[in-house]
Amino acid sequence: MREVLKLFKGDIYHTPKFGKHEIIENGYIAVKNGQVLGVYKEVPKEHNMAELIDHSGKLIIPGFIDTHFHAPQFTNRGLGLDKELLPWLETYTFPEEAKYENIKYAKKAYEKVIIELWRQGTTRSVLFGTIHREATELLMEMLDKSGLGAMVGKVNMDRNAPEFYHETTQESLNETRKWLENTKDRYERVKPIITPRFVPTCTPELLSGLGAIAKEFNVKIQSHLSENKGEIAWVSELEPTAKHYADVYNTHGLFGDQPTIQAHCIWNTKEELELMKEKKIMVAHSPHSNNNLSSGIAPIRKLVDMGIPVGLASDISGGHDVSIAKAIVSASQVAKLRWVYLDDSNKPLSTSEWFYIATKGGGQFFGDNIGSFEKGNEFDALIIDDSNIADINPRDVMERVERYIYVGDDRNIVERYVSGNKLDKPNFN
Ligand code: GUN
Ligand code: FE
Repeated sequence: MREVLKLFKGDIYHTPKFGKHEIIENGYIAVKNGQVLGVYKEVPKEHNMAELIDHSGKLIIPGFIDTHFHAPQFTNRGLGLDKELLPWLETYTFPEEAKYENIKYAKKAYEKVIIELWRQGTTRSVLFGTIHREATELLMEMLDKSGLGAMVGKVNMDRNAPEFYHETTQESLNETRKWLENTKDRYERVKPIITPRFVPTCTPELLSGLGAIAKEFNVKIQSHLSENKGEIAWVSELEPTAKHYADVYNTHGLFGDQPTIQAHCIWNTKEELELMKEKKIMVAHSPHSNNNLSSGIAPIRKLVDMGIPVGLASDISGGHDVSIAKAIVSASQVAKLRWVYLDDSNKPLSTSEWFYIATKGGGQFFGDNIGSFEKGNEFDALIIDDSNIADINPRDVMERVERYIYVGDDRNIVERYVSGNKLDKPNFN
């Protein structure tokens, strides 16, 4: 069905390139069939007849992209964060994820996840599910219904997992295959992504099988890399012949052979970083989680300077907050500490550079047409009413965006769009 042309009017802010934002105060975005036709200061003559959607005085920004979020851990937000990664996984995470074998539990829990993604203006996300195929398929179906964009992974783990939350290698591969057959082409904006949890919970046989499946089905890949020092030491014990942590994934066809996101990437060696650059690995940077679990501070400026793509992430529930705006705040704060205390050669990023990473940076994993308002891009957008956080001085658009990121919250988001569709609060009744 062909749609009429719409003109969204407001104070427009977006970052077409890293380090380069575009601001149009009182401007217009023309949208047709869900895609941006252009961004203008004045309405071009040929668009005179368009339907006007007037948000004068409000900000129009791209939707946020969350590149790493464990959907089943949403129920655990804020819990056990005085632990480090490995004990936290064992005491809090695995017992919670095991509950998703029960599809009724999964439905109740995933409703809350999707409503929160919507509420916080995360228009597209890259999610881990659990090892359970049914619950993962349900999550995908519910996301499709909500209108949000997502990649969702059925988690694989066949070693070092508790008896109550474990698969055999064969079960894991069979279920993954079945899940891909069921979901690969089922939804327009919700896609499956191959998800080996991390090297400690995946045998080489499983990793090889998953590498082959990713290639056969032509699907993307996500996992965890070099998050915590104890984890890294464990990987070298488990895989003594590997050159380094990344080499384990690489050996099994899980490192950029299909587009790949790796979460954390705090402690990579120079050799690993070279390989990440060569294989175009996207790093999911989750500062809240890296702080909460005492994991460390990822060297984002260095990654960016090397040309390694970076997106921001909540990493629920290592991270406690779904808001990607608040991930910008945390990322900026820890980058400054790193600079002051550790490494004055890697200067912190500017707010507009972080904004790029939070929108178009992560959006690149979904395609070249996601995360900004350039011509031909999907219209994924948030309308922000920042009147309640204004002060008594006039402020320019950049200052208003900065303030919204630092002191605004979900109540400032008055409308959310994905591919031009206005999304109402998800309702699964
Ligand atoms: N590494 C393996 N599993 C996980 C997880 O669930 N969360 C985090 N932060 N790291 C992991
Ligand atoms: Fe994670």
